[in-house]
Amino acid sequence: MIEAMDISVTKAETSKLNDLNLENLPFGRYFSDHMLEADYENGEWKNVEIKPYQPLLMSPSLAALHYGQAIFEGIKAYRDPQGKAFIFRPIDNFRRFNISAARMQMPEVPEELFMEGMRRLVQLDKSWIPSQPDHSLYIRPFMFSSDEMIGVRPSETYKFMIILSPTGPYYAAPMRIYVEEHYVRACAGGIGYAKAAGNYGSSMLATAEARKKGYDQVLWTDAHEHKYVQEIGTMNVFFVIGNKAITPDLEQGTILNGVTRQTVITLLQEMGIEVEERPLSIDEIIEAYQAGTLKEVFGTGTAATITLIRELKYKDTVLSFDTDTWKVTTQIKETLNNIREGRSEDTHGWMWPV
Ligand code: COI
Repeated sequence: MIEAMDISVTKAETSKLNDLNLENLPFGRYFSDHMLEADYENGEWKNVEIKPYQPLLMSPSLAALHYGQAIFEGIKAYRDPQGKAFIFRPIDNFRRFNISAARMQMPEVPEELFMEGMRRLVQLDKSWIPSQPDHSLYIRPFMFSSDEMIGVRPSETYKFMIILSPTGPYYAAPMRIYVEEHYVRACAGGIGYAKAAGNYGSSMLATAEARKKGYDQVLWTDAHEHKYVQEIGTMNVFFVIGNKAITPDLEQGTILNGVTRQTVITLLQEMGIEVEERPLSIDEIIEAYQAGTLKEVFGTGTAATITLIRELKYKDTVLSFDTDTWKVTTQIKETLNNIREGRSEDTHGWMWPV
């Protein structure tokens, strides 16, 4: 463990919390009083500091700005009815963070730095955890290359940071989705499974074009044939067909191994619903819709939690749903919220006490 003396803590003189209306918070606009910062130099992590949230001073030649060695995670902290703070499954995000780091040729962040740094930061800013339904404290760990140099090679120095943002829902209402068959998010051998900043930057044009057509997000399809579905915008995706739930598998390394995805697979199985992780084609989805067996479609993600999909558009075919009648998605959402907000027993050890 990183001992107390290894993390230097400088507290903010005044808190910004009193200026913030914790009702109806937008996603990711406000940040708590403190942040964590650490430097990687000469093969080791040093200068671990928790300090007042503040701008960074950086050189215009900062490597991350030019070549995109930048990765991040999204994690959420909640408060139970007694006011005790918990973080949801952070160890899974920690592991995925280092999988992303390895793919981007970045150094590993030690477990003690990630977990203990996060715990101490959240403990310090605990009063920023909103308590109203569908709200949480979003934890954003991230790492970027920090060499001041404009040649293409892995940086020798990096910064690891954690910031905290009290937030409301990412997607407030059921969504309309455009099935993308021109642009590509990821292909086998690429970086689709990494939570790399570039994956999000490269998705924005397709999303903007879908928005112009009246849709909220795109459902990505495979790079070779645009036949198999991958994930939606910032979420993994589940299709309830007959009495099964089907979600794209992770085999090709083209989709993110979502922590909420894994959680939902477990909860569905506990509800007695068989889950299939396998390639799922858009043709199979349309056939199931036409046969009346495609019952529900939903996205899962840390930011998005569980988001209902009320419409899918593929070429000239529109699949629309009356989400008010849905049972599976509603139950999954409620079960998950009850665990996270401390109203149900956490039988899986998912809630990590701060
Ligand atoms: C998350 O779900 O935590 C994400 O990182 C998605 C998005 C906000 C980029």
